[in-house]
Amino acid sequence: MDESEVTAGDVEEGDVATGVASAGSSFHSLRIFDTTLRDGEQSPGISLNLREKVEIAEQLARLGVDVIEAGFPISSDGETEAVKAIASQIKGPIIAGLARVDPRDIERAAEAVGSAQRARIHTFIATSEIHMKHKLRMSAVEVLEAARLGVERARLYVDDVEFSCEDATRSDPAFLAEVYTAAARAGATTLNLPDTVGYALPAEFADLLSYLASEVSDEVMWSVHTHDDLGLAVANALAGVGAGARQIEVAVNGIGERAGNCSLEEVVMALRTRRTVGGFDTSINTREIARTSRLVSMLTGYAVPPNKAIVGANAFAHEAGIHQHGVMVERTTYEIMDPVDVGLEGSRIVLGKHSGRHAFTNALEEMGFHLDKTEIQKAFDRFKSLADRKIRITDIDLEAIVADELSSDAEEYEMISIQVAGGTHLSPTATVRLRRSEEIIDESAIGDGMIDAACGAIQRATSIDARLESFNVSSVTGGIDALGDVTIVLVSGEAQDGPVRRATGRGVSTDVVEAAARAYLSAVNRLIALSHRQMAPPRS
Ligand code: KIV
Ligand code: ZN
Repeated sequence: MDESEVTAGDVEEGDVATGVASAGSSFHSLRIFDTTLRDGEQSPGISLNLREKVEIAEQLARLGVDVIEAGFPISSDGETEAVKAIASQIKGPIIAGLARVDPRDIERAAEAVGSAQRARIHTFIATSEIHMKHKLRMSAVEVLEAARLGVERARLYVDDVEFSCEDATRSDPAFLAEVYTAAARAGATTLNLPDTVGYALPAEFADLLSYLASEVSDEVMWSVHTHDDLGLAVANALAGVGAGARQIEVAVNGIGERAGNCSLEEVVMALRTRRTVGGFDTSINTREIARTSRLVSMLTGYAVPPNKAIVGANAFAHEAGIHQHGVMVERTTYEIMDPVDVGLEGSRIVLGKHSGRHAFTNALEEMGFHLDKTEIQKAFDRFKSLADRKIRITDIDLEAIVADELSSDAEEYEMISIQVAGGTHLSPTATVRLRRSEEIIDESAIGDGMIDAACGAIQRATSIDARLESFNVSSVTGGIDALGDVTIVLVSGEAQDGPVRRATGRGVSTDVVEAAARAYLSAVNRLIALSHRQMAPPRS
């Protein structure tokens, strides 16, 4: 493919501070394909509802990704609906739907992305011996034919078809070349090389891509999809770019199957910070990175480790005295990036106790949230009760409230109220009132502490028997009146024969017991949502 087709986001040296691309420089813009909503959402315990997915997609569009992989439509009816909603509401990026080469998968993906301004079907089949033999139970000849037919079928619906050989890095290179050639001839426009199990080393991955690019003569764009099992996802993606790939598949905060995918923020900032060496950049508006990371973390319940590159709380913190001194004298002594460039300029105070609905709605709109009337009302009620307890409310607090409200949208159980009592001489007791469609449920429990009592009362009210696997408390911003942010992981099904399910829930409140109760209920709701999801049977 002619590289000029992908240089729309070229930037001039010196634009680093703005994060905004301008035309006419020698840097080639790489295509950023975001799979937070598909591979990212496959992380254990994550189950986003439709509203949360649309909100993340909106933020990804603001961030400037080129492609949003919105989901795997055949995996459930809910997933199909979410991809449809993203396809019809999100303007700008290409919207992709994943499909095995199975006709039913492809038809479902076509239906789901059909209303997108620019639609893509991403179809795949495994090509390694181990997958063909044990998972697909197909011969190499059958896989080759299925790949060709799958791409041909996808092309009946869309012009933009991406094809992947799953487990490519453990496949026979000559067979890979055959399959990719067949896919390209059948009409695939992007060929993606996945390191599905995170097995490759950078030089080896680059060699494989160079070999395939030289063997497959058709005009295609090469793409890389790397996993982080050996901590090499970003390094492998960059090696792939060096070998000719012009699309990188990424996920925000690096979430994804097992150890996760190539992290969007890391690869984008590596390309940007070292672009005079690499010669590449992206059209990502880097100033939206921190906010995107916070939103994804809030909605998925996956906390960002403090030492995570680019978006971790300590990524720009300097502990050693010698470093602090250096940075005070001249920031660049110990900082290779400006925190402002990734959107870390600190929280802005936006509202206070006396702010009314109008100011509240304006603040949300300015921040890019598009909520309907009911959502605004619910978020406003939360804001008012927060404003009674917290003098200054920042944009980051607002993000947390909205994320919390979006999480509870369309959930099985809704929290109406919680009351707790306890102290040195009183057993901790909690009473919760929940709503389940028209039904109101009141339950109480005594516990070892107030949080234990609150979770026990919810367990009784919902009759969901689950084990608490982890419990984490942090704060959204600093200060004694900061919003408490609780993340809980629940596991169900261990005692029965059925599948073991794991769900993460997150809740925020100035009261940590209330935050914990919200997080617990959110995890319960996600367990219920996960039990409604059913994957279509794999191809035999
Ligand atoms: O890791 C993988 O192989 C995938 C494919 C579906 C591209 O996610
Ligand atoms: Zn993957």
